Amino acid sequence: MIDLQSTGDGLHGYALLCAQLEALLAGERDFIANAAQMSAFLYSELGDLNWAGFYLNRNEELVLGPFQGKVACVRILFSKGVCGAAATTRITQRVEDVHAFPGHIACDSASNSELVVPLVKEGRLIGVLDLDSPSVGRFTEEDQAGIERLAEIFLQATDL
Ligand code: SME
Repeated sequence: MIDLQSTGDGLHGYALLCAQLEALLAGERDFIANAAQMSAFLYSELGDLNWAGFYLNRNEELVLGPFQGKVACVRILFSKGVCGAAATTRITQRVEDVHAFPGHIACDSASNSELVVPLVKEGRLIGVLDLDSPSVGRFTEEDQAGIERLAEIFLQATDL
């Protein structure tokens, strides 16, 4: 369960977003429905993003899933880009300046920083959650921890 940090002012920050996401996904376990909702939720609630969505593991290749933002690359090899690095290492990739990341795939030239969280359930790599921002250094360590918690809520709430 999520850690519902509360102050006298009520929930705030990622604790609030976690509670909102749990409520949004409650009662539905379909993957496409929940991934579509999650993309729209992150895109509208986090701010300063130009892309938010999923790439799915299809036989060791990443294939575009539900997302919000401009049209994007459809297939990404595990050996390519920030998404491929997250899939291969199964470690979140927080990239302050994508132009300094060797092999970064520029789907949208507006992207300057990126956070990619691997989605792993019961040892299986389901895919990755990819967030792009037009601002260099958009994602802090706090953002990473918060978005990893949101990804975990999605995995728990969804049949995969
Ligand atoms: N920039 C990503 C590709 C996906 S798009 O940003 C939507 C990468 O380097 O893996």
